[in-house]
Amino acid sequence: MGWTKSARRKLSLPIITAILCTFLAFIFLLYPERVNTILRFKPNCPKRISADDRALGSDSIDNPADDSFDFDPDECSVAHGKWVFNTSIKPLYTDRTCPYIDKQYSCIKNGRNDSYYVHWEWQPDDCILPRFNPEIALRKLKGKRLIWGEFENGEEGYEELDTAVSYRVALRTWANWIDSTINPQKTRVFFTTMSPSHQKNKEWGNINGIRCFNETRPVMKKGHWGSGSNREMMKVVASVMRRMKVPVTVLNITQLSEYRIDAHTSIYGELQGKLLTDEQRADPLHFADCIHWCLPGVPDTWNQLLFAYL
Ligand SMILES: *[C@@H]1O[C@H](CO)[C@@H](O)[C@H](O)[C@H]1NC(C)=O
Ligand SMILES: *[C@@H]1O[C@H](CO)[C@@H](O)[C@H](O)[C@H]1NC(C)=O
Ligand SMILES: *[C@@H]1O[C@H](CO)[C@@H](O)[C@H](O)[C@H]1NC(C)=O
Ligand SMILES: *[C@@H]1O[C@H](CO)[C@@H](O)[C@H](O)[C@H]1NC(C)=O
Repeated sequence: MGWTKSARRKLSLPIITAILCTFLAFIFLLYPERVNTILRFKPNCPKRISADDRALGSDSIDNPADDSFDFDPDECSVAHGKWVFNTSIKPLYTDRTCPYIDKQYSCIKNGRNDSYYVHWEWQPDDCILPRFNPEIALRKLKGKRLIWGEFENGEEGYEELDTAVSYRVALRTWANWIDSTINPQKTRVFFTTMSPSHQKNKEWGNINGIRCFNETRPVMKKGHWGSGSNREMMKVVASVMRRMKVPVTVLNITQLSEYRIDAHTSIYGELQGKLLTDEQRADPLHFADCIHWCLPGVPDTWNQLLFAYL
């Protein structure tokens, strides 16, 4: 990825923006030096506590020595939760201010006329996710090497069974490579699960819809899955990861993204490097892109998860 080299040399200002504005399917390796010992920042992710505790406990939240309120990924399943709409949530950048956003994902700039989709916040059931804080993220990443790779999630066009089988073979190969190459004392490995697509509007009950076109609200039905997520492959991921020697942090983004039918680039993206023409936009059945996501948007929540686990 473009900024790997410069990140290796020195994390500089453009990197702040880059961290804010990027992210795709990735494997993310970095050298940790017990992040908490370098940092001692205010834990801004207290576990969900009662209103009373909150009133009484504010001192301890401000006390950097007490990290009992730290976000604890072992305690909290970030994959289970809900999207909450809150207009006082403002993204840290817009597609007009962030120079790193590819035109393909700049939905508002490309003419999308609703911006509800930027005001949804993912709330896990059992904890509060820390907000993405670029300064803290930078400090946590300081002196660490970022290595990016990509692991193709299964291609379409195979029989379901073949896909799962070949996916398992590929993932095992990857896992063996990690196990034989990576020193877990020095390196942390992250694995992001598949990003779902939204091609079948019937699946979320919009009988008269056209795929993800013109959707402005997430699916609210808890536990919703669609055929844009391959759950067979999710099982493969879980079983391969379980058997690995090197511990892998799985960023389980699939279901939380599955709710977000409203957040794809739809007709406000590009086709072969060009914005859609008016004729193409008028034909969302064929031209709406229900695979990629607008930025800012859902991928920022993936970043937020990564940030929480750092
Ligand atoms: C909306 O977000 C703001 C800022 O984080 C927060 O203070 C407020 O409590 C939130 N409102 C709701 C209804 O969650
Ligand atoms: C916004 O765009 C949609 C098509 O995506 C259109 O149906 C709607 O009328 C537009 N709304 C406004 C306020 O322009
Ligand atoms: C988009 O949805 C809105 C209602 O949410 C509707 O008024 C509008 O006509 C739709 N636009 C198109 C082009 O279907
Ligand atoms: C990810 O979370 C979903 C629930 O949202 C669960 O069904 C699935 O097994 C998890 N996948 C992995 C690889 O942990």
